[in-house]
Amino acid sequence: MMNSIYKYTFGTPEEHTPFKLTGQRIDGDAGGLPACEAPFGAEAITFSVNARGTTLNIPAAPGEQFFGLGLQLKSVAQRGKKKVLRVNSDPTLDLGDSHAPVPFYLSTAGYGVLIDTARYTTFQFASHVKQASAEQRKESADNTDDLYAARALSGTTHVLVDIPAAKGVDVYVFAGPTMADALKRYNMFSGGGVLPPMWGLGIWYRTWVYSTQDAVREQAKSIRADRLPCDVFGLEPGWQTRAYSCSYVWNREKYPDIEQVIEELRAQGYHLNLWEHLYMHPECPIYGEQEPYAGDYKVWGGLVPDLSVPEAAKSFRDYHKTALIEKGISGFKLDECDNSDFIGHPWSYPEASQFPSGMDGEQMHSMMGMLSQQAMMPVYEELNQRTYNCVRSSGAYAAPMPYVLYSDLYSLSDFIRGVVTAGFSGLLWCPEVRQSGDEEDLIRRLQTVVLSPLAMINNWMVPHPAWKQFDTEKNKEGDFSGCEGVVDRVRPVLELRMKLLPYLYNAFNSYRKCGLPPFRSLAVDYTGDANTHTIDDQYMVGDAMMYAPMLPGKTSREVYLPAGKWHNFFTGETYEGATKRTFEAAVADILLFVRDGSLIPTAKPVTHVTPDTVFEMEVRRFGGGRLTCTLTEDDGESFDFLKGEQNIITLTSEEDGRLTLTREGGYDGVRYVF
Ligand code: GAL
Repeated sequence: MMNSIYKYTFGTPEEHTPFKLTGQRIDGDAGGLPACEAPFGAEAITFSVNARGTTLNIPAAPGEQFFGLGLQLKSVAQRGKKKVLRVNSDPTLDLGDSHAPVPFYLSTAGYGVLIDTARYTTFQFASHVKQASAEQRKESADNTDDLYAARALSGTTHVLVDIPAAKGVDVYVFAGPTMADALKRYNMFSGGGVLPPMWGLGIWYRTWVYSTQDAVREQAKSIRADRLPCDVFGLEPGWQTRAYSCSYVWNREKYPDIEQVIEELRAQGYHLNLWEHLYMHPECPIYGEQEPYAGDYKVWGGLVPDLSVPEAAKSFRDYHKTALIEKGISGFKLDECDNSDFIGHPWSYPEASQFPSGMDGEQMHSMMGMLSQQAMMPVYEELNQRTYNCVRSSGAYAAPMPYVLYSDLYSLSDFIRGVVTAGFSGLLWCPEVRQSGDEEDLIRRLQTVVLSPLAMINNWMVPHPAWKQFDTEKNKEGDFSGCEGVVDRVRPVLELRMKLLPYLYNAFNSYRKCGLPPFRSLAVDYTGDANTHTIDDQYMVGDAMMYAPMLPGKTSREVYLPAGKWHNFFTGETYEGATKRTFEAAVADILLFVRDGSLIPTAKPVTHVTPDTVFEMEVRRFGGGRLTCTLTEDDGESFDFLKGEQNIITLTSEEDGRLTLTREGGYDGVRYVF
């Protein structure tokens, strides 16, 4: 197949699969990588079909490590593990359950494998030996020490893939030769990584679920008065007349003058984002249109649309376009599309549901997040307006989608691990900050938030932001006592995001052009260094930086510095790599490291990005000799960059600090001054 991507077909694949439903954006461009042989041919994979479904045994070598399977909040390295890819909004155990499972894995041997199925597939990574196998591995054990050691070393030679119901499957193998190359090929095959609008990379704030238009006005003003950066203002369920299920119609009691409020907020530089989900209340204006395309079970009395049917997708998108987007809404937070009925509430539809397309509920759960993202894309293209959104489920081939995953769970270490794992499968993850018990918790969470794909302060549970009041009851009473000065310590954290915004925008543009995710595991960059394979609490931020988050309650931590020299981003202090080191970090300190030999462009922080924003840049050297870096310059919000209206600026800094720059491309504006 094209570009070192190999497709192997076994038996009769199902009709409703990720590739057939959402994988059609392929542009054939593998990011300029040279051709590479397949790691193994179809004949090396054993395939069988029986009453249970399809089983594959895919080759795996001793010592190979595996990553991926979509967003995995509980573990990074998968060798020896059994994972069931079930969509579940509350994945609290390391079982494979996820908001966004993806049947794709990467191997340290330098390839990736996508099993094109929407079934809740089980993966067992080099964990079992077949009865008839000639393998000589020691399987038995005489005591528990032996037992655990044997499991850790497990040297079997297969990844077992167990797909229920299917009578066959297509397997896509992405060659390397490196793991990073295989990941790039997968993301480029999906259509390339997303380039969000610049404003999407600023700070987001979501307001209390019970806010009225006056509360919204007040809060939007106070954020500006406090000189806190904020680009996106989000409204939670209360904006609609009906929320569970949704009407998608403004609640005029709370928002009588919404048209004017939108205008005011936009004039203050905010983009507006609305919470919603897909279950449609009988009062929803498109209910009648959607009825013929709905599944056979209701959720919250609303119908469940089958967005794989083109007519249903069109009706959903057209309504959003005319009723909301053309009236000034920039994007949505698509909640509840991730099977939320495992925690004792009937908040989703059964796996046994039937949909008009022929999909069942299991397949729909796997596809719903991606189908809804895909349904909306043509609107933004028609309006020549980029967007950035939140979504609670996603799937295979998601790299080009301007959607970032989030959760109702709240463990900070799981949220950090989410940034690490999402990048293995073309997903973006938002470790949002919500209510905080105290200042340290707030600041530590914010530090990770500003060094992530979407910098979200999700204040849906309380009327006032955490920097005004930590105590939930006092917060609701509007009592701000005891929180004086917190805002001044929050501001520099948010400003770090705005300083790095041009750097991050450029990292996303590389994602678009070559498929390398802007936030990723150290194992992608340092695959040959086995120490990086299990690191779940550090990650790369673009090509030049590495972040080691601090958890609340800690004053120091161990950080693994891969080979080479590293510099502290803030102090410039230099450290030798290929070792673990302990670093002290007071609450205000962020452990952000820069690879030696990097030139980092930073901006004077603005509170929000407009089409006219010109960033005042400073360029910082980390290391000796001639250093270079690039920046991406375009209008930051339309799709004109696809027509060549984008410049790549190359900055060169000589040892003595002299700076020169070249601009190449067809954008005739200037976004950066030096
Ligand atoms: C949850 C969602 C939260 C918030 C809440 C509002 O499902 O994850 O972020 O939007 O609904 O009711």
